[in-house]
Amino acid sequence: MANLPPPEKAQASKWYPFYHAAPPVGWLNDPNGFCWYKGEYHIFYQYHPHSVDWGPMHWGHSTSKDFCHWEHQPIALTPGALSEGHEWYDWDGCFSGCGVEFEGKLWLMYTSQRFNGPGGVNSSANPSGYNPSGSSGGGNVTERQCYAYSEDGIHFTKYEKNPVIDIPNDHPIIANIDFRDPKIWDHNGKYYCVIGNRIRDRSRTQIVLFESENFFDWTYKSVVAISKPDYSEGTMWECPGFAHFGDDYVMIISPQHVPPKGRFFHNIHQAGYMVGKLDYDQGVFTHGDFYTFDHGFDFYATTMMKHPDTGRYFIIAWMAAWQSPFPEQADGWTNLLTIPRELKMRDGKVLTVPPPEMEGLRKGSVSYENVTVDKPTKLDGVKGSVGELIVEVDPKEAFDIELRVGGSEELGNIEKTVFSYEPNERVMTLNRDLAGAGPKGTREVQFDPCDKLELRFFLDRSSIELFVNDGEYVMTTRTYPRTESDDIVFVPKNGKLVLSSVTYYDFLK
Ligand code: FRU
Repeated sequence: MANLPPPEKAQASKWYPFYHAAPPVGWLNDPNGFCWYKGEYHIFYQYHPHSVDWGPMHWGHSTSKDFCHWEHQPIALTPGALSEGHEWYDWDGCFSGCGVEFEGKLWLMYTSQRFNGPGGVNSSANPSGYNPSGSSGGGNVTERQCYAYSEDGIHFTKYEKNPVIDIPNDHPIIANIDFRDPKIWDHNGKYYCVIGNRIRDRSRTQIVLFESENFFDWTYKSVVAISKPDYSEGTMWECPGFAHFGDDYVMIISPQHVPPKGRFFHNIHQAGYMVGKLDYDQGVFTHGDFYTFDHGFDFYATTMMKHPDTGRYFIIAWMAAWQSPFPEQADGWTNLLTIPRELKMRDGKVLTVPPPEMEGLRKGSVSYENVTVDKPTKLDGVKGSVGELIVEVDPKEAFDIELRVGGSEELGNIEKTVFSYEPNERVMTLNRDLAGAGPKGTREVQFDPCDKLELRFFLDRSSIELFVNDGEYVMTTRTYPRTESDDIVFVPKNGKLVLSSVTYYDFLK
């Protein structure tokens, strides 16, 4: 077991978030099982509690009443113990999945992992008698879908009849390798479940649909969506889900390896959506193009929930990119989740908006109106590392907003994360070349013409999330400055800059 510090020590890290969900100690990746159960939001996450690196996946767990404060809960799912020979289906990990209330209990559906090989599925502890020799794809890991349930939302028991979806090696449509991340919803008295899959020859990826009358017996229905055969839409669609706004359906997916196109898709993997119509009889989703939810660096594996009382949809993602360096590992923890973002639809476009609940964090506010600056300028009280900055500006202005600024140019140790806006092309560039200890680079997004720009930044020690015009465009990045680098600087790029309004909330005040 690696040398992890005690959780209190990891959480004292200068980069540990104040209001984002993060692991108590150890490694986190995808959010899972996002739901509302017994008066609280639950977020689970892919978790390796024994080191700061990815390893056999557990489900970590946090709860929140208000989206502003997350409380650590005990680990919800642990891979079955090889030595004890039980839970043969998930000895190698409990991968991503969803959380659903059914008849008063909280049910988690997750993907179980089994490496097929010596000491693995052929051992006497494998009651399924599954024979790996006919293994169906390029990998050697069988993925099945399993349940765990809880009466209190905290302690989980794996379902006695697991796995509940187990695809034979010779299934004509579905490969049982790269078959993961189930998401359940109900419609007209039936349950539906979508699962990401890569077809056997690995030339395409598909989302497969299952249905159930009783929540427990699942039958394969259809391929609900499939990628183009040229990999232009990625190699594997992970973490699927469906939301709907009236008759318009939104399929969320996290496609791996989408090739860059213009300003889009410069991260290794993407997370976004397609809009279309879902035909439940045929089980087919007819849709438009894929769009990303976020134009920054660190956003993957989106998960979604629908509030059972209000019907509002929320998403949360992993605020990271596979293969990034994570400087916080030196402090005994790795990664955090984004803030919850409310899914809305406007003119056929999906917006991801900070929900009003987040205003519960607001403290220590300072506001300015109609400030004209003709040189790089700081405004009194507008500074910090844990807070929210709202800037309104005319989209015809050219400017930089520099966040988490510190050090000095003369000494060569300046730090800053820079958002630069260029009005002719309406392009916002996020530059983290000088942002501190972490990875560097730039990302760009082009805005549609608009009358006013509202820029809303959420800062939390080692992260920045920018929401433009009520979630129309979002840019998310990790950033690793020194704690004392907390200035905010407004830089005119055309001689002068009129800031219609600037408000800063210091959440620590
Ligand atoms: C996405 C993903 C999921 C899988 C999990 C494993 O980042 O690869 O498809 O369930 O991570 O940790």
